[in-house]
Amino acid sequence: VSTPECRVCGAPAEPFMSFGPMPIANAFVTADEIGGEYFGDLEVGFCPSCTMVQLVTFVDPAQLFHDHYAYFSSTSARMADHFAAFAEDVRRRHLGGADPFVVELGSNDGIMLRHFAAAGIRHLGVEPSANVAETARSRGVNTVCRFFDAAAADDIRAEYGPADALLGANVICHIPDLNELAHGVARLLAPGGVFVFEEPYLGDIVEKTSYDQIYDEHYFYFSVSSLSRLFARHGLEVVDAARQTVHGGSMRYTVARVGAHRIAPAVTALQDHEARLGLHDARTFAEFRRRVEVSRTKLVGLLQQMRALGKRVVGYGATSKSTTVLNYCGIGPDLIEFISDVTPGKQNRLTPGTHIPIRPYRQFVEAYPDYALLFAWNHADEILAKETAFLDRGGQFIVYVPDCAILAAGSGGVTRRETVSLP
Ligand code: SAH
Ligand code: TYD
Ligand code: ZN
Repeated sequence: VSTPECRVCGAPAEPFMSFGPMPIANAFVTADEIGGEYFGDLEVGFCPSCTMVQLVTFVDPAQLFHDHYAYFSSTSARMADHFAAFAEDVRRRHLGGADPFVVELGSNDGIMLRHFAAAGIRHLGVEPSANVAETARSRGVNTVCRFFDAAAADDIRAEYGPADALLGANVICHIPDLNELAHGVARLLAPGGVFVFEEPYLGDIVEKTSYDQIYDEHYFYFSVSSLSRLFARHGLEVVDAARQTVHGGSMRYTVARVGAHRIAPAVTALQDHEARLGLHDARTFAEFRRRVEVSRTKLVGLLQQMRALGKRVVGYGATSKSTTVLNYCGIGPDLIEFISDVTPGKQNRLTPGTHIPIRPYRQFVEAYPDYALLFAWNHADEILAKETAFLDRGGQFIVYVPDCAILAAGSGGVTRRETVSLP
C-alpha cells in the first residue's frame, strides 16, 4: 500500500485510523435499496509537514451533494438563532460600505442568507444540492446551484463584482481541493474583503473524542495552525478565530488578504493552545485512536446490557455522524428499535449500512422508550430543554461524547452519570 499524499501540500500523509467500510453517511435507504449501497473505506490521516488532518480515501462530491441531499439546516431552532446572530455580526463588522455584496458557500436552505435578503443586501448563495437550493429560493434567497470552485469565483465576479464578505458554515471541510478553494476566494474577494467561515474544530474533536465528526463529507478537520499554513500559500491569512459551541465545538475563522486587516490576538493564542494539545504531533492521533476504541467498547457493552435487561432503546436524531458510530461499532436494529427524526426526507427510510428504521418524531412521543441514544448530541441543550416530559417520566438519554454517560432528570435539572455499566 503506497503512502497517501497530503491533499494540501503533497507531502506524505500518515493514516492513523481506519473505521472500515462505510456507506455514504447521508444516504438513508429504502428497503428496496438494501444490497445496492456504496461502501468505501473511511480512513483518516495526519500530514506531519503541514499538520492538516484529512480523509485519505475520498468519495466524489457529486455522489454526496445532489438533488436529494438529506440535510436541511433549518431543522434546528438553535442553529437558526445562531445563523441570525452570525449574519448580524458580519453586517455590523464588515458591511459598512456602500452597496455591499455577500456570497455564501453551501447556503443550504437559506438559514443564514435569508437575513441579508430580508435586509435588502445584495447576496448570492452557491449551493450544489438542488433540493435545498430550491427551498432557499422559495424563501427569497438568490441562489445559484453549483459547486464553488475557481471557475465559479470568476463567473460570480464577472456577474456581480467582487465580494465584500464571503461566508461559509460546515462547508469548507466538504471541499476536496482546498488550494483551488483558496485560489477562488482570492479571486472573488474585494481588496479589503473578508472570508468568514466556521467548521467543526479539530481541537474539540481531539479533546472530546468526537470521532463521529469523521465521515465522508468531512474531507478535512481544521485547526487555526493548519489553515494558517494553507492560506499563506495563496496570499491570504487568518486574521481572527473564535470558538463556537455549535456542532459540538466549532471555530469561526476570518481570512483576508495579507496585510489588509490587523491580526487579532486570538489567532496566536489559539495556535499556542493547539501546540499544547499536540495537534502538530502524530502521537496525539495515535492516542485519539485508542480512546475511540475504548469508546466503542463502552457503548456497545452498555447497549448489550440494556438489551439483556429488556429495556427499550431508541435513537434520537438520524445524524450523518451516527453513520460512523453505527457502522464502526456494529450497532443495528437488534440494539436500537428505531431512530426518531423530524426531517421528512429521512423518515420511513433506514440508516445507511446498518438499516435501523427512521421514524417520525411522534412515534417517540407516543410511546416513550426507556432510553434515547442521543446521536444529535451536538444539539443536546435544545433537545434536553424540549424533552422535559420524557425525562420527567423517567426517560433517560445515553450519550457517548465526550464519554459514555446517562442523562436523567435530577433535583434542579438534568444529572449526568459517567458509566461503563448499568447500576
Ligand atoms: N451551511 C449550512 C449547510 C451545511 S451542509 C449549515 O451550516 O447548516 C453543507 C452544504 O454545503 C450542503 O448543502 C452542500 O450541498 C454544500 N456544498 C458541498 N460542496 C460545496 C461546494 N463545493 N460549494 C458550495 N457548497 C457546497
Ligand atoms: P446534525 O447533528 O445537525 O447534523 P449532521 O447530520 O451533520 O450530523 O443533525 C441533526 C439531525 O437530528 C437532523 O436529522 C435533524 C434531527 N433533529 C431532530 O430530529 N430533533 C431535534 O430536535 C433536532 C435539533 C434535530
Ligand atoms: Zn500537508
